[in-house]
Amino acid sequence: MNLDTLKQKISVLKSKANDDFLSSVSKEDLDDSYRSFLGKKGEVNLLLKTLGSLPQEKRKEAGKILNELKSELEEKYLSTSVSLSSSANQERLNKEKIDSTLPGFQDLKGSTHPVTQTIKEICEFFERMGFDVESGPEAEIDYYNFEALNVPDDHPAKDMHDTFYLNNSGLLRTHTSPVQIRTMEKREAPHRIICPGKVYRKDSDLTHTPMFHQIEGLVVEEGASFSQLKGLLNDFLEDFFGEKVELRFRPSYFPFTEPSAEADIRWNKNWLEVLGCGMVHPNVLKGVGVDTKKYSGFAFGLGVERMAMLKYDIPDLRAFFENDLRFLRQF
Ligand code: FA5
Ligand code: MG
Repeated sequence: MNLDTLKQKISVLKSKANDDFLSSVSKEDLDDSYRSFLGKKGEVNLLLKTLGSLPQEKRKEAGKILNELKSELEEKYLSTSVSLSSSANQERLNKEKIDSTLPGFQDLKGSTHPVTQTIKEICEFFERMGFDVESGPEAEIDYYNFEALNVPDDHPAKDMHDTFYLNNSGLLRTHTSPVQIRTMEKREAPHRIICPGKVYRKDSDLTHTPMFHQIEGLVVEEGASFSQLKGLLNDFLEDFFGEKVELRFRPSYFPFTEPSAEADIRWNKNWLEVLGCGMVHPNVLKGVGVDTKKYSGFAFGLGVERMAMLKYDIPDLRAFFENDLRFLRQF
């Protein structure tokens, strides 16, 4: 072979390699072409091996041209490889592109349960009236739930059929009134407290559930009177319903108050009892060491679900505890 034939072969090889590199569609494809031209057994090396067949004085020049070809092709390979990977990136970006016009994910926000909402509203009213918010245990002992509240041992509320008794002679409190005793034991009079909480009874119908909420109120002050109690409850009920409601105070009986009353509100064609109240019985005050010559007290216990059912016009109190989202989402 002479130098001119070599040069000719080189120029053919160069354009073939350029074409091959440029037409590669992937990195793997390009690397294949690289191996077939620049690999150990590639075409450039094959040409290098033919150098021996050239006359001595031409070999140096031929070697130089072949090395130039080698580095030119190396460069071409590198630049093609760079542009291939950037177009691969572009393709990936295209695939991952975010369509900002698509509808977003709905954020499922929770909301306050209507009973919790009602408790909050009621507490806010009494806090404005200077009441502190107290709490007490749901698992009580007989002493706080009944005895200290002047409830005699043969009172029907103490019947096994009306109260949930626990194994350890405790019971689930049937009203929030035990918190009256716990508060008066804890601190000296005067008192002005409310206590919201869960209470339990063996009840279930349109207006009764086995678990429900009460808010207890207790005021022990000098000169606390029945007319103050009635005025306070009137103001509260008007504030809560935000409109005139038909309200009825009905004489009643609780062992821990004297006199006692219950308040009913007009509900469709009937009356619905919403609370019990009265002047704290002197036996109760004396039991916790309150000076009854100096102080008198009044108390009330209202049914939260009853208040909510009247306010939101709900025909069945049990709906509050069925956790039907179609119901709950309305509040
Ligand atoms: C009492 O529980 C007394 N502790 C209230 C009281 C407190 C009187 C302080 C005097 C002084 P009563 O059993 O009536 O009273 O219940 C009070 C209110 O709870 C009722 O007026 C009613 O609104 C509500 N209630 C009673 N039972 C249920 C029930 N099973 N489900 C839902 N609400 C109820
Ligand atoms: Mg009652």
